Amino acid sequence: MMEEKKNETLLEIKDLKVSFPVHKKWLPAVDGVSLEIHPGEITGIVGESGSGKSVMSQSILRLRDHDTAVRYEGEILFEGENLLQKPLSQMRDIRGNQISVIFQDPLNSLSPVHTVGNQISEVLILHKQLSKEEAGKRSIQMLKMTGIPDPEACMKKYPFELSGGMQQRVMIAMALACEPKLLIADEPTTALDVTIQEQILHLIRDLNERLGMSVLFITHDMGVVSRICHSVKVMYLGQVVEEAQTQELFENPCHPYTQGLLACIPHLRVERGKELPMIQGSVPSLSNIPEGCHFCTRCSLADDTCRNCPPPLVEISPGHKVKCWKYADGSKEREVTAS
Ligand SMILES: Nc1ncnc2c1ncn2[C@@H]1O[C@H](COP(=O)(O)OP(=O)(O)O)[C@@H](O)[C@H]1O
Ligand SMILES: [Mg+2]
Repeated sequence: MMEEKKNETLLEIKDLKVSFPVHKKWLPAVDGVSLEIHPGEITGIVGESGSGKSVMSQSILRLRDHDTAVRYEGEILFEGENLLQKPLSQMRDIRGNQISVIFQDPLNSLSPVHTVGNQISEVLILHKQLSKEEAGKRSIQMLKMTGIPDPEACMKKYPFELSGGMQQRVMIAMALACEPKLLIADEPTTALDVTIQEQILHLIRDLNERLGMSVLFITHDMGVVSRICHSVKVMYLGQVVEEAQTQELFENPCHPYTQGLLACIPHLRVERGKELPMIQGSVPSLSNIPEGCHFCTRCSLADDTCRNCPPPLVEISPGHKVKCWKYADGSKEREVTAS
């Protein structure tokens, strides 16, 4: 079934640019990102803090429109319709119904003054017009599906009475209550202990397989990517610098930034007989975006071309793209592999 759906596109982002006004100038937190999400796929976005992952994913649901001035360019097509042109009133019908989102900190998204049962039921009453009783029954089913041991008891609790792992399960139950076509998960396991993290990843993967729901999975952790994502985009300072199927990216990481992220996973540090370079420093702020390649200030291979001219995103093998001058022409590619 997944095979025949493969070519359909659920979400297509075309050359998205999202800018904020900083000192009277519009600065791009997302700078020309394109991506496609197909039904049933888990697409990963990976990059350090400050790469623009959250701004990009929140733009899909226009979550920042209320509290900050923001300028969008490009297109976000969900089942062919441009979400950037929808009035916010229509976005409310899409949020939680067609596209759901879960965040790092579930307590920020759960209401402290309502029980778990009331919060999940409310979503179902609002979007699916269920009666209170039907919504209650369905809420219990949802909690059960996320592996909460005593769903009936959980329904009566307030979020603060639950552990972090249980709160995240409640968030997931709420996010999936209306069977959205797309789940956006923005660092959903970052705040959790390793064992709980593992359980939540397993849960998301399991729900993806059982329900065929697409997932946009955001993380700063390459180890997490390897366990859950079918394909990956590596983001740096607002741009996708490398993209590939997960296995291909891990076997053949090309961008110096990707190699640096992989070097953070201890058992992968020595790759094909050479040590992967660690990245020094941190992501520059939006007011310090370099002229040429965004990564040039931290790249040990950067030369004048890199500092002055933005590199193109080049497809080096089917589905594997790299935005680095070293791959933009054949001669430089040899240099990199040799160094
Ligand atoms: N409202 C805003 N005004 C100005 N800059 C912002 C705003 N929101 C986010 N940014 C900047 O956008 C960049 C990307 O942020 P974010 O998407 O949160 O990164 P990530 O999720 O990858 O850590 C950061 O430099 C951040 O400071
Ligand atoms: Mg973020």
